[in-house]
Amino acid sequence: MRIDIVTIFPEFFGVLDVSLLGKARQSGLIETQVHDLRDSTHDRHRTVDDTPYGGGAGMVMRPEPWGEALDGIVTERSTLIVPSPAGHPFTQATARELAARDHLVFACGRYEGIDQRVVEHYSERIEVREVSLGDYVLNGGEVAAMAIIEAVGRLVPGMVGNPASLEEESHEAGLLEHPSYTKPAVWRDHAVPPVLLSGNHGAIAAWRHEQQVARTRATRPDLIGEQ
Ligand code: ADE
Repeated sequence: MRIDIVTIFPEFFGVLDVSLLGKARQSGLIETQVHDLRDSTHDRHRTVDDTPYGGGAGMVMRPEPWGEALDGIVTERSTLIVPSPAGHPFTQATARELAARDHLVFACGRYEGIDQRVVEHYSERIEVREVSLGDYVLNGGEVAAMAIIEAVGRLVPGMVGNPASLEEESHEAGLLEHPSYTKPAVWRDHAVPPVLLSGNHGAIAAWRHEQQVARTRATRPDLIGEQ
């Protein structure tokens, strides 16, 4: 998979070099490139924003630098991802869909967002996804892009050492993950649930499923159609 990121803060993406994603990049499984949007400006101040038509607070990112930067990156096989609090909620299902794409391009907006004609223009040519990380507002798309890249990157075939660990985790079965324990069997008067020490695989599987349902009901009833 290839990932291109366009931003006015390329330094945000230094963390791509660490952890699992860093290994994937080294092995060539995922190739990433970060582009500075200001390299696609032509004025002395490298201006990327302007006041909003219709008035209002804040600044809007001008379409021309975005057009110039993206024209040099996208092909007909690209998926353009625009992180935005006004986008579709990003879920594990979205991550699975994006993990099957060849080329992801992230357009990280700042200020009050990017002139909407950028999304309109590229939607006529390629797949464009406006994606929200959640119902809160970040200062820009960079942190959201990092979260999306991490969630998608670990689903790319060949990425995680143990494929079973992907199926067992939170959200893959529509339920949250069960709690996990390791040694010692007693820590500060807290004992590991005895069933986990029983060696009875059927009882362990049943207990874990009960825990998943109880946890989901307690913290995320919306996931199982309850309120
Ligand atoms: N940019 C600003 N806030 C955001 C959010 N909640 N999700 C994605 N991108 C954003």
